[in-house]
Amino acid sequence: MNNRTILVTSALPYANGPIHIGHLVEYIQTDIWARFQKMCGHDCIYICADDAHGTPIMLRAQQEGITPEELISRVKLEHEKDFADFLIEFDNYHSTHSEENKKHATTIYQRLKDNGHITTKTVIDLFDPKENVFLPDRFVKGECPKCHAKDQYGDNCEVCGSTYTPADLINPYSSVSGATPIQKENLHYFFKLNDFKDVLEKWINQDNLQPEITNKLKEWFDSGLQDWDISRDAPYFGFEIPDAPGKYFYVWLDAPIGYMASLQQYIDSSTNTGGKDFNYYWNSDSIAEVYHFIGKDIAYFHMLFWPAMLHGADYRIPTAVYCHGFLTVDGKKMSKSRGTFIKARTYLEHLHPEYLRYYFAAKLGPGVSDIDLNLEDFQQRVNSDVVGKLVNIASRCAGFITKKFDAKLTASFNDECTHAFDLAVEKNNQIKMYYESRKYSEAMRVIMSVADIANQIIDAHKPWEKIKEDSNRTEVHQVCSFGLNMFRLLIGYLKPVLPELAAKSEVFLNTEFTWEKLYNGNPLPEGHEINKFKPLITRIEKESIDKMIEDSKQDAAPVASDPISDEITFDDFAKLDFRVAKIIKAEHVEGADKLLQLTLDLGESTGGVQKNVFAGIKSAYAPEDIEGRLTVVVANLAPRKMRFGMSEGMVLAAGPGDKDIFLLQPDSGAKPGMRVK
Ligand code: 2FM
Ligand code: ZN
Repeated sequence: MNNRTILVTSALPYANGPIHIGHLVEYIQTDIWARFQKMCGHDCIYICADDAHGTPIMLRAQQEGITPEELISRVKLEHEKDFADFLIEFDNYHSTHSEENKKHATTIYQRLKDNGHITTKTVIDLFDPKENVFLPDRFVKGECPKCHAKDQYGDNCEVCGSTYTPADLINPYSSVSGATPIQKENLHYFFKLNDFKDVLEKWINQDNLQPEITNKLKEWFDSGLQDWDISRDAPYFGFEIPDAPGKYFYVWLDAPIGYMASLQQYIDSSTNTGGKDFNYYWNSDSIAEVYHFIGKDIAYFHMLFWPAMLHGADYRIPTAVYCHGFLTVDGKKMSKSRGTFIKARTYLEHLHPEYLRYYFAAKLGPGVSDIDLNLEDFQQRVNSDVVGKLVNIASRCAGFITKKFDAKLTASFNDECTHAFDLAVEKNNQIKMYYESRKYSEAMRVIMSVADIANQIIDAHKPWEKIKEDSNRTEVHQVCSFGLNMFRLLIGYLKPVLPELAAKSEVFLNTEFTWEKLYNGNPLPEGHEINKFKPLITRIEKESIDKMIEDSKQDAAPVASDPISDEITFDDFAKLDFRVAKIIKAEHVEGADKLLQLTLDLGESTGGVQKNVFAGIKSAYAPEDIEGRLTVVVANLAPRKMRFGMSEGMVLAAGPGDKDIFLLQPDSGAKPGMRVK
């Protein structure tokens, strides 16, 4: 066999959020392709990593009150678990925040610099005059110039969705210090993309790229290749640029280098790579094939910057970059409020991963058009194809073979069965070609048409009726053996898509599915013994889909940082006795940072009760400001012993704290002792 060495990648997901079904289009598409190559016996490695650098990750960590390192290691574990549970089988999963990536990013940068492809320019940036730092767009906030929503980020408005630059914000402020940013000259590092005009022109004219993408690239090309700004200033979570203290590589510089880093880690940790080292894959004269699967939105980075960087650093360029479209659900963009923004984890809590793998395969073509997950069609299609057509073949035939024929198959079929079997084998070249060229929907169509033929033949022979007559034994043995052999070929064809179902079927049929073994033209040998049939996969129930959508709506509900306390009854509330009280004395408390000691007079109607109360209002009030003032006290609160003495009630105040605490102030006509209702 013609053995190929293939390196396959999917885009590296950002380490600041969960994997959702939109991401999964790509990982499932790539995983099917990599599994297919492996099944054909090629030396194929599928690698990926988390994309761990950049401002959004830094901000997310800040919001959560943890370090970026803590955030990215937690998210990496979550991503790996989600992928594994969706049967995405990476040979290695790494992180761009790694030693390997630092080493390769530095090497590439150094080589680009040595080869004259790096330049510096002074640009005007926003600067925080209080903190003495340059501000990334996301660190500047202000009023949206379009809809006037307050506190929006410097690059886009979360309320109306418009995008702009920080300079467009009304009343901008630094989210680090609150100061008004000023404009200041700043040195940036640039990659001279135009140095690679000729290489890129040749690259975009090669014929294994998708025409829609080539056209887009040509447009970009014709509008001129601009220098690419690859530096960002501290504070930034990333790698510091060598010899440029305080300057960091922009996240998109070291992200694709993460592909190399992950391969490096794979090679360093493998006991046997067949003598293939890092250079075997990446040297400029490498004979290995390198494929990147990505979304069409990031074509610019992968098809212009990345090949140029590689070439400029004396590495090979990718064999091809394959783009896919976006996912819609029921014809619309995924939406949190509709419950169609479905996290991988939420899906897995309700549905089997192979349902989605099959559905995406049935929808995916080689182009960049968007694919739609129509939930009704999803249920109907998976139930009818996978359960109704495929698994049904095995469940109808297995019992008779086990019970009536000692679990042994015959290899002698009648002419009709032989013909159908040969036809199913013959399809292997066509199906192979469809997988290779990512025409999965075509492959699924052909596979299901073969399943239809198998079912028709079984239906025509009705083994469940024929078995009642002893004289029909041979016919039943033949047709059921034929059915299981067809099942073997079909599940074999689907092994890249349905790996778990295929693995269970390998156990059941007591044989391994490799392309060579399956499609050599022979059925399983005479007398081949099978194992007991166990249910392989169940139907999708509508309730499971409904629950998944319901849970996704819940996922989208904002998480309360300060949720409302447990409910109390009206009677509980009515027990509180609020009274107007006069602050007749207010004093500092020695040793207490926050407390004032108040003496309250509750008036004649209470029999002249006076109370001693410690109140945490010192940051907002000086004693002399409140002496003589009226306020409201919870008068029937049980006395509580505090460090500085007994507190016999509680005054009511509201506000976020610090200077902003406001003691409740009754109307001027109020008198001490009055009830407040
Ligand atoms: O768009 C994204 O989600 C990026 N994190 C993809 C990076 S792919 C590669 F370049 F690292
Ligand atoms: Zn707005």
